[in-house]
Amino acid sequence: MTARERIAGNVAGYVDDRTGAAKWMKKNLTKVFPDHWSFLLGEIALYSFIILLLSGTFLTFWFDPSMKEVVYNGSYEPLQGIKMSAAYASTLDISFEVRGGLLMRQIHHWAALIFMVGIVVHLMRVYFTGAFRKPREFNWIIGVGLLTLGIVEGFLGYSLPDDLLSGTGIRIAEAIIQALPVVGSYLSYFAFGGAFPGELFISRIYTVHILLLPGIFLALITVHLMLVWYQKHTQFPGPGRTEKNVVGYPLMPVYMAKAGGFFFIVFGVTAFLGAVASINPVWLYGPYTPGQVSAGSQPDWYMGWLDGLVRMAPPLETYLFGYTVSWNILIPGLILPGIMFTGLALYPFIESWATGDKREHHLLDRPRNAPNRTAIGAMALTFTLVSLINGGNDIIATTFDLTINQMMWFSRIAIIVLPPIAFVVTKRLCLSLQRADRDLVLHGRETGRLVRMPNGEFIEVHEPISAEKAWLLTSHEQLAPLELPEHDGAGVRRPGALKNKLRNRISRAAAVAVPKATETERRELEGHH
Ligand code: HEM
Repeated sequence: MTARERIAGNVAGYVDDRTGAAKWMKKNLTKVFPDHWSFLLGEIALYSFIILLLSGTFLTFWFDPSMKEVVYNGSYEPLQGIKMSAAYASTLDISFEVRGGLLMRQIHHWAALIFMVGIVVHLMRVYFTGAFRKPREFNWIIGVGLLTLGIVEGFLGYSLPDDLLSGTGIRIAEAIIQALPVVGSYLSYFAFGGAFPGELFISRIYTVHILLLPGIFLALITVHLMLVWYQKHTQFPGPGRTEKNVVGYPLMPVYMAKAGGFFFIVFGVTAFLGAVASINPVWLYGPYTPGQVSAGSQPDWYMGWLDGLVRMAPPLETYLFGYTVSWNILIPGLILPGIMFTGLALYPFIESWATGDKREHHLLDRPRNAPNRTAIGAMALTFTLVSLINGGNDIIATTFDLTINQMMWFSRIAIIVLPPIAFVVTKRLCLSLQRADRDLVLHGRETGRLVRMPNGEFIEVHEPISAEKAWLLTSHEQLAPLELPEHDGAGVRRPGALKNKLRNRISRAAAVAVPKATETERRELEGHH
């Protein structure tokens, strides 16, 4: 034993005598994780969050969250002598006076954008592979909570500098708060400490942005990862993988090395973007004054869909008992997002209700083998994408020489017409892919080799696929539709018949599939090749 090993052993023994950690560590460090590139998406979100904490802490040293009026005297000449809030002036100072300050601001902002991309793409992977099914429904709900908090946290973050763009965003938030019937104006006065914009808002959202929400994030992410640990990670079907085991590599040393390396890749990419790609150049926008809005005001991408929905809403208002109900803000700003996020959170329960499948699932689905789920996902994405596009309607209009009216009408029609089309097309695509899988199993791979037969006929030679691949393409199960009774033995409608009828219908739609190739069919056809 070398001296180094002896010292390490002594230290480990010392700690173990006092904490009993060795047994726990041995058990957990050898825990096995399955491997797939898509399992890294959650890690991108995780590492971006760490980068956000580190870079954000740096920014707090110089940022002054105050709306006190000051006259700017810093080194950025175009704004010298202009009155602005201390928050805006300190953001300019971080950008131009503090060493490395601009880089840190840009890293922080890029990390926020990547964090949100990481969350959304991770959510899509969990959704499209069915990883949210029993027993992972709670973790899905925690995930939806993290997504919502991420959007709020990001919005509060880019509202802090009190520049013209961020002030415009806060003005929209104020409008949405005010649109709430009855309590709206009270809530707005409460949030802003008086009439908009007041002098308190920035310091209030600062506390929420750097203390409250990061604390909740830390707690939720910890529970999220503990649940992944406890429930074990799902895996794609493959040789030796069942619903009851996990095939993969141990945490130590394989995943420790991989995760460590991947953290530095995410950090490197974020730092590179922060160094070379300008983001939120607040000095160009100027300080916020409620009377001004600049053309081309764009929120960060994860808020763009909400802005897009508000921008396309028709001017609907009703006057009730002397009050104005602004449907044009209430519907796109609160009701639709409420429905979208509630639907998202409840999806695992809705799906298991519709299919009647209440079993545990640890093996993932290929998206094509769950055509209805995949089609619903495509429909939701299309809806969000159309709103997101309309969030940039002014920029798109000027870039492509269109009018705002054309953009608005395009998105009003597209948001109703395109999602159902996306549903139908995706479902058909999934079924076609299932058919292609079936053909592949039964007739083998097209080799591209054309052969002329003695009778003059040309055929393309097919090559049988490996037994492993054939198994992979046929190992998934195909759910039978529910057949809940609508009538009792005497032919009389039972109580709850309508509900059963509805569930039968939905489950029939969910169970539509191209029958997968069976072993008997395969054997029968083998003679023909
Ligand atoms: C701050 C945001 C988030 C972080 C840091 C995070 C992190 C992670 C990590 C590292 C994993 C394990 C690796 C992987 O499967 O990718 C994971 C798994 C999981 N996440 Fe997230 N996640 C976040 C948000 C979300 C969201 C928005 C959802 C869905 C609405 C979600 C649902 C899940 C589920 C169900 C699992 C278990 C997946 C499985 O076992 O296959 N997470 N998360």
